[in-house]
Order: sequence, then C-alpha cells, then structure tokens
Amino acid sequence: MADRQALIAAATTARTRAYAPYSGFAVGAAILDELGNIHAGCNVENAAYPQGQCAEATAIGAMIVAGANRITAIAIAGPESGAACTPCGGCRQRIREFAAPDTPIIVCSDGKIIAEHTLADLLPHSFGPENLG
Ligand code: THU
Repeated sequence: MADRQALIAAATTARTRAYAPYSGFAVGAAILDELGNIHAGCNVENAAYPQGQCAEATAIGAMIVAGANRITAIAIAGPESGAACTPCGGCRQRIREFAAPDTPIIVCSDGKIIAEHTLADLLPHSFGPENLG
C-alpha cells in the first residue's frame, strides 16, 4: 500500500532529525491521519533527562496542531541494527487516545518493516476517553 511506504519513509526521515545526545538512541515516528495526511516526529531529549519526549509524542503533537485527531496507522523507526523499537508504555497510552483497537503499529528498521502489531496487541484492556462516560 502506497500510504504505508510513505509512512515508513516519513518515520525513517524523522529519525535522522532526532535530538538524542544523552541516550544516542534515535527514534522517528510517523502517523497516517483520518484525512490521509502524514505527521512525523522524532525524540527530543533534554539535559534534565525526564523532560525528554518520545518520537511518538512529537508526532501526535504535529497531528493535533495540523487539525487532525485520528491515528489510522503509525510507523516507528528505531535503530538500523534491526532491533525492534516498539512504543514505550507511556506512548502506547498516548496512541490509545487517538486510535482504534485494530490500528496498526508498524515497527521499522532501516526503512523496512520488522514487526507489526495492533494497538490492542500492545495495550490490551486499555483505558480511553470512552471510559470517562
Ligand atoms: N524513545 C522513543 O522516542 N520512542 C519509543 O518508543 C521508545 C524510546 C526514545 C526516548 C529516549 O529519547 C530514547 O528513545 C531512549 O529511551
């Protein structure tokens, strides 16, 4: 699917812009929204370590400021070694806010898919906006 290749390419490019001087672990993420547009982000670390932000959070912020609010797919680009960079627990919950249980989470390395999960696989029995009634 063309959108999927574009999504992987966007995540891979975003990874090159990571600001990760402390961990040296660059991550890129790209979201396909409900209108077919792509929003990319990278991790942005901070000298005050806990203030660092994951790539997924940056991409979500880019989606929201662009006026979209549904994640129909998300790609995450981790190390070129092929080691999988699946989203951290906090980012699984961040994705949950804007995605459906069957939303694909595509894990990439060096421009290639190395794993694919659904949100429900990574965050079963989750809590989301509808739980607030
Ligand atoms: N990181 C992400 O950006 N996304 C993930 O899914 C996992 C981890 C970042 C956070 C930190 O800047 C670096 O990777 C090492 O944990």
